[in-house]
Amino acid sequence: MATRTGAWAAVAAAAVVAVLSAALSLYGSPLDAVLKRAFSLHNAHSVKGMEDALQLVRNIVPPLTAKKHKGQDGRVGVVGGCREYTGAPYFAAISALKVGADLSHVFCTQEAAPVIKAYSPELIVHPVLDSPDAVHDVGKWLPRLHALVVGPGLGRDDVLLSNVKDILEASKARGIPIVIDADGLWLIAQQPALIQGYQKAVLTPNHVEFSRLSEAVLGDPLDGQDRRGAVLRLSQALGNVTVVQKGERDVISDGKQVLECSQEGSGRRCGGQGDLLSGSLGVLVHWALQAGPERTDGFSPLLVAAFGACTLTRQCSHQAFQKHGRSTTTTDMIAEVGPAFSRLFET
Ligand SMILES: *[C@@H]1O[C@H](CO)[C@@H](O)[C@H](O)[C@H]1NC(C)=O
Repeated sequence: MATRTGAWAAVAAAAVVAVLSAALSLYGSPLDAVLKRAFSLHNAHSVKGMEDALQLVRNIVPPLTAKKHKGQDGRVGVVGGCREYTGAPYFAAISALKVGADLSHVFCTQEAAPVIKAYSPELIVHPVLDSPDAVHDVGKWLPRLHALVVGPGLGRDDVLLSNVKDILEASKARGIPIVIDADGLWLIAQQPALIQGYQKAVLTPNHVEFSRLSEAVLGDPLDGQDRRGAVLRLSQALGNVTVVQKGERDVISDGKQVLECSQEGSGRRCGGQGDLLSGSLGVLVHWALQAGPERTDGFSPLLVAAFGACTLTRQCSHQAFQKHGRSTTTTDMIAEVGPAFSRLFET
């Protein structure tokens, strides 16, 4: 019961932030002072807020029981991997497995496939993304997938992007949740209509990707002062698609509420951390949607999933850095997924 009350307090706090941010977008800077006060209030409660939000993540984690069959806890597909980039799709797909997916697929180009297979015997790798039948080849797997992660190591080749566009349309038609990162976001910035209004999508832009999207969707370069307002506005402009702006703190919005993740991470910014986030998010989005809004106490399931993936990624980074310091790489962080997950979510 205490948890429930706490969670509602968090909902209320987030709602206040959301309403004030929306107000600022309507009335401009005169509300700045009010907003700042509300935000510092919000910050004063943020440790408790974080704890409440963590409890919501715990609520969506499916129990491990002997009764389940293979695949029930998640079959995730990663769309990406080309001649230049093979690490990113590997990191995303292996992270999904380590977080708890039962099966992890990679849909990549023909050239990238043997390389990704050689990294790991645990992934199912399909060399189809540059084939003339790419959409059909990926499409026949869609009925078996619970979530798609689009973009890690995708690159910007026109043929690939055109195939990915059709894969996105096919996935939307089936109602499959889609996490979009990296060059998948580049595609969305070119054609925002691709994702407009699809409320089972989560975008995970870094600073540069966020500015590009903002510019494309709102015609506005990023306002650096008001990150919460900027993320809320972008989400709303996209029809309440969930947006996770990665940064010193991660800011997450579903167009209604704004959550912030400030779990301690590390100072390392090596490539690949974003793939850990997008891969984990693929699994958590599935779990959250399966659990339903009762388990997330009124919060949108995707918001809770995003908060969980951000927290987990930061905790992995923190733990890896304690062991490896400056030499920490994404591989070290992925090795921490198990212990970080139990520390955060298994109580
Ligand atoms: C998005 O959420 C806002 C705030 O709740 C709501 O006013 C708006 O109608 C929603 N938009 C869509 C497209 O659902």
